[in-house]
Amino acid sequence: MPETQVAQQDIQSVLREARKFDPPAEFSQHARIKSMAEYQKLYDASAADPEKFWANVAGELHWFQKWNKVLEWDLPWAKWFLNGKINLSYNCLDRHVQTARKDKTAILWEGEPGEVRTFTYQQLLREVSKCANALKAMGIKPGDRVAIYMGMTPELAIALLACARIGAVHSVIFGGFSANALVDRINDAQCIAVITQDSGYRRGVLVYRRTGSAVEMKKGRDHWWHEVVDKASDNCPAEALDSEDPLFILYTSGTTGKPKGIVHTTAGYAVGVYYTTKMVFDLRDEDIFWCTADIGWVTGHSYIVYGPLQNGATVLMYEGAPNHPDFDRFWQMIDRHKVTIFYTAPTAIRAFIKWGSEYPKRHKLDSLRLLGTVGEPINPEAWMWYRDMIGKNRCPIVDTWWQTETGMIMISPLPGAVPTKPGSATVPLPGVFPDVVTRAGESVPKGSGGLLVLRKPWPAMARTIFNDPDRFVKQYWSDIPGMYFTGDGARKDEDGYYWMMGRVDDVINVAGHRLGTMEIESALVAHPKVAEAAVVGRPDDLKGQAIAAFVTLESGHKPTPEMKDELRKWVVKEIGALARPDDIRFTDTLPKTRSGKIMRRLLRELAGTGEVKGDVTTLEDFSVIAKLSSEEE
Ligand code: WTA
Repeated sequence: MPETQVAQQDIQSVLREARKFDPPAEFSQHARIKSMAEYQKLYDASAADPEKFWANVAGELHWFQKWNKVLEWDLPWAKWFLNGKINLSYNCLDRHVQTARKDKTAILWEGEPGEVRTFTYQQLLREVSKCANALKAMGIKPGDRVAIYMGMTPELAIALLACARIGAVHSVIFGGFSANALVDRINDAQCIAVITQDSGYRRGVLVYRRTGSAVEMKKGRDHWWHEVVDKASDNCPAEALDSEDPLFILYTSGTTGKPKGIVHTTAGYAVGVYYTTKMVFDLRDEDIFWCTADIGWVTGHSYIVYGPLQNGATVLMYEGAPNHPDFDRFWQMIDRHKVTIFYTAPTAIRAFIKWGSEYPKRHKLDSLRLLGTVGEPINPEAWMWYRDMIGKNRCPIVDTWWQTETGMIMISPLPGAVPTKPGSATVPLPGVFPDVVTRAGESVPKGSGGLLVLRKPWPAMARTIFNDPDRFVKQYWSDIPGMYFTGDGARKDEDGYYWMMGRVDDVINVAGHRLGTMEIESALVAHPKVAEAAVVGRPDDLKGQAIAAFVTLESGHKPTPEMKDELRKWVVKEIGALARPDDIRFTDTLPKTRSGKIMRRLLRELAGTGEVKGDVTTLEDFSVIAKLSSEEE
């Protein structure tokens, strides 16, 4: 992040800090952790003996065989709960089916057209077992990778839990990615099967019929879900897996053109998401929990499926768009299903604001007791609107900071204990040890900006990048000696509250979706008419950041509006609609340093404000800037 931007954000944050909201008294009264003093006590205990702390949490889960060592830490390689035998699907299902929860609703699903399907814990166990048996019958074994490319249907959650049940490693690819992006990810993880819906790809494909649209099925390769799963036996004992057996791979964008397959393992992840769901959402048996994320992202993995179900919660899952058939769909659903906890992204909140307060005002929203946000920094204005219009100044807001790599929420208020400040994710959860440091790894004084790091291992941490351990080391554990570097900039205020300041690397956050600028650049330069491309993020009121691409065409090609369209379509085909550039600017050359590095800072300034303020003394060709700034969109 450019220095000037950091300084500006510092001032803004200082001004914001004045506002502080105590947890509502009646919320605290019933909460697990009721005061800052209680939080501090728990945090101090976790700091004094982190292994003991996490072992206590792990003790609340079901183990086929208890671990004999909590942590083996050989930086950056972590193993948690060594020699334990556990199954996450068992902890999500069987454990509850043995109690009075067996007839409780586990998943309450609503399709976009309006149909509702519910699964009790017992019914869900049956469906998961059938799917698991069908996968086994297709030859899938523990450790095999299974790609899942589906929309938000209950079958998606069932597919995840079925893989976890038999020890297959799922790799969910968000439905918004294109076929090309899907193929790259299937190949990278060497997946041997694909689970999809109403359309199939390659060998070993299990297809769920959701809409009934025409699908070309290849005999021997493609199988209909309703033919193989529905006929399978509903008895499939959960496999006793090793704590460190891989549970899933999830691709996320990094600073190179190639997405990273983040690997999470079984026990540590289970413990991390179980604990954080329970504490951050202060989950109670009567809650109806709605996380609006897609299961294709880590938020859906951790806080639609594995966290809430391990806690025996009722999860609302919604298939469609928030503005169908009208802009009040979410608020109507909250009233209809009596949702108590609502967890969404700041980008969504900014869209709600734009659509207008009359939509939430049509509904009571009185079942809500807690609100949450995730995925990107929330601007204080949006936070205040959320608190006022949706939470009716009655519900605490948990702004949760975490990443695909952390697996679980790391920095967030505990809602009954920690006073909130609009725009701050507040303080670390017990058992989590972040800091804000310089490049050399020294803590910066309170009030200054720096790099957000994690100083100690945590159970749900990523174990590696699939098939690329060197990249794992280089990406996360090399910049700052001895610590995990998040890629985020942050600032700690006088109260020790964290203020996130966005990515400091070449990753941008568009509508809460992480995208690598290099990934989009590689897609652009793969176009036969493109010679060179540089992609940067620019501020956007709605999406947080928008995608700005500077493109140099091969000689002989004209920079026309049609060319812009062609390139936009090309990126959609290569990556998916989520990566479509908002702005494309053609330029004869890109501004570079004498050593040939593209000067992204200049491009960011150009893309954002249209002006270049910073130091340009290392720029090779000054005339480029003049040309770029005069180029009209
Ligand atoms: C950003 C999503 C500010 C951050 C769970 C991080 C946030 C990246 C917050 C991870 C928050 C996530 N406040 N920024 N509450 N939550 N981020 O892997 O830049 O899709 O590094 O995981 O989102 O994105 P990812």
